[in-house]
Amino acid sequence: MVYLKIVPVFVGLYFLAHVYGHPARPSLPLCEKTIKNKNEHELWCLVADGQHLNYDEIRTYTKPLPKNVKVNVTINCINDGIIRLPWPLYASNVVSLHVSGCINEGLLSERTVNHGQRNELRQVVFENIRHRVTISELHDSIVNLQNMSTDYACGPSNTVVQIYKNIQYLFPKSSGSLNDLILLEELMSESTVDRLTQPQTICRYPHLRLLENSGSRSFSNFHLKTMETNQYPKLRQYSLWNNSLPRLPAEIASLQIDFLPSLTYLDLSRNELTSADFDLRGKLVKHKLLINLQNNMIRELNSRVVTDIAKTKGVILDLRNNDQLQCSCDLFSYGDYLISLKSNSARAVYKGITCEHNEQGTIISHSLHDIAFRNELCKPTN
Ligand SMILES: *[C@@H]1O[C@H](CO)[C@@H](O)[C@H](O)[C@H]1NC(C)=O
Ligand SMILES: *[C@@H]1O[C@H](CO)[C@@H](O)[C@H](O)[C@H]1NC(C)=O
Ligand SMILES: *[C@@H]1O[C@H](CO)[C@@H](O)[C@H](O)[C@H]1NC(C)=O
Repeated sequence: MVYLKIVPVFVGLYFLAHVYGHPARPSLPLCEKTIKNKNEHELWCLVADGQHLNYDEIRTYTKPLPKNVKVNVTINCINDGIIRLPWPLYASNVVSLHVSGCINEGLLSERTVNHGQRNELRQVVFENIRHRVTISELHDSIVNLQNMSTDYACGPSNTVVQIYKNIQYLFPKSSGSLNDLILLEELMSESTVDRLTQPQTICRYPHLRLLENSGSRSFSNFHLKTMETNQYPKLRQYSLWNNSLPRLPAEIASLQIDFLPSLTYLDLSRNELTSADFDLRGKLVKHKLLINLQNNMIRELNSRVVTDIAKTKGVILDLRNNDQLQCSCDLFSYGDYLISLKSNSARAVYKGITCEHNEQGTIISHSLHDIAFRNELCKPTN
């Protein structure tokens, strides 16, 4: 190793390329390998329509590498390229995994398997992925929840960043066979629901700072229920934008988010929320928390919410770009609170909020610093 340090870098690169890049037969034909420096490798894989990439091939490449070598893996699929990428995604030496555009088969295939890979992922980004799940895989994984491995239950638990964007599950139509029908019936039974709502394993994500689940039409409250039992001591940004959420999930509405003690930014933008009905009576959030509610359909902010928020002294509801927001004295009081926070983000929100007011059949838009209008609207009546 001492020798390697003193030889010019390109000699070292050549040496490594030779050792790791040219095994007896060409491995990983769909991937291009780049060795950035001695300890940083990059795999860039392109899977076209009709092609298939099995993650095991990548594992076979990365596992024999020395422990201090870190590998970043990027997999891009075009059209209907298919991969087999099983949860929990571990592959020894792989620190970053970025996958986009693929159909994934076998997501559930390592539920009880000991895959023998180290859990080293620091970053996972999934974009536009369709997971194809068979009825029997789904049935199997739900019925055997008790004996799934901790790795499987918790996934890539050493990550700093996890981003899941536009993820879909493709369930094949039931074949109508008796077997499928029995499986489906069992899946829909109450005991399945019971089992799903029992906390199984407590997962801890000690390094996670950014988590995004967006672009899912099926994001459910069940998701937060399972998160509640886990630990995310450092999670600062949690993003749930673009999930067609019609209402605030209960945990968020009450900010009962002890499982997210470091949260400073919650992104709920581009959903279908019609109200900002937070109920903060039970809980005073003690730190600053910016909640992005932009591009929803929120129509009003009621006086109870305004009073509760004012007590937190740090929670900001970003109500910009809610086109149907109605002007009200409560909304103006909320503006006063924003100004009192004396922070740049609160000021930006204050300046950017507009509300509408119906004046004799004409909808007029106002900003929160429209004092003349406010005085008129909130004139004490005798
Ligand atoms: C590999 O991924 C990590 C993120 O996990 C990143 O910080 C690093 O810059 C990447 N390295 C290369 C060579 O792209
Ligand atoms: C998991 O549990 C089911 C039933 O509870 C059992 O049939 C199966 O063999 C178990 N699998 C493992 C790997 O323990
Ligand atoms: C929002 O989510 C939908 C799927 O629900 C997706 O098709 C769309 O591309 C997403 N929008 C953006 C801007 O990512």
